[in-house]
Amino acid sequence: MAPSDEHHVAAVVAAQDTGHGTAHDYEKGSPHLRHRSLRSMLEARLRGLVAGRRASTGGCDVLEVGGGHGTFTRCLLDAGAHVTVTETSAASAARLRSELGSTGRVEVLHDRTGEDVLAADRQWDLAVMTAVLHHIPDYLSFLDRLVPLVAPGGSLFTAADPLHYPDMPARDHWADRGAYLAWRLLQGDYARGLATRVRRLRGIHDDTEPSDLVEYHVVRDGVDETAVARLLDDHFGEVEVFRYWASQAPLFQRLGEATSMRTDFGVVATRRLPTRD
Ligand SMILES: C[S@@+](CC[C@H](N)C(=O)[O-])C[C@H]1O[C@@H](n2cnc3c(N)ncnc32)[C@H](O)[C@@H]1O
Repeated sequence: MAPSDEHHVAAVVAAQDTGHGTAHDYEKGSPHLRHRSLRSMLEARLRGLVAGRRASTGGCDVLEVGGGHGTFTRCLLDAGAHVTVTETSAASAARLRSELGSTGRVEVLHDRTGEDVLAADRQWDLAVMTAVLHHIPDYLSFLDRLVPLVAPGGSLFTAADPLHYPDMPARDHWADRGAYLAWRLLQGDYARGLATRVRRLRGIHDDTEPSDLVEYHVVRDGVDETAVARLLDDHFGEVEVFRYWASQAPLFQRLGEATSMRTDFGVVATRRLPTRD
């Protein structure tokens, strides 16, 4: 089914809601939250973007898409930003509201379609997505429609997505897969794991299987970082792609970081150009 097919997109969004329910542990399978080296690298970049904007305009309004339980929302707030944070998961939106609402600097939007925010009639200084692009079937179309929400001179930051598998060196891809499977073997729920593995080997994706929908591009081809950068290049004065190693188990994270292998990426686009009429 095409990634833009209406029913397919609705199924993926519904899976985000059920897959990130009240009891969901965001940290468990997320290297960028678990490992201090990755988390502080991302936080430092976000703090820098907020500080830069505050220095030039006196404030920084941030749109964070898919805030989860607010790890990076808190970082943005600590840096002095006002944050509008969206979530397709009702449970996560409720938690964000109850934990951060009292700061008076956070607005939480439960985005039921995952695209409601794209119709917003306002602009933000900085748009942020961490570990979100790979959940969106047509992420290029999403980004294309997100760009107009960034104010002139503003920035867009996205990170914690898998590199495009077809363009990765085979060594890096197989090291990544091997490290993931070794970690997965320690997580239990073997019947489901085996059924998923068999579907993967047969190249089948099933719209009724949450694990085929939630981590959408992780279980397909990864996210095409070159296409993302190319799209943003048309709208920003500067676009940087940074690639890094990310793996679930602490041991494999340490080992991978000591090599030149790369699995994940982020993009920082700065100096949003004025729109052309
Ligand atoms: C892997 S989690 C990352 C959460 C958080 N950004 C972090 O890094 O800790 C992805 C989150 O994005 C949400 N999500 C997925 N697609 C979305 C969309 N189109 N709009 C808003 N939230 C979305 C999911 O519900 C989930 O909570």
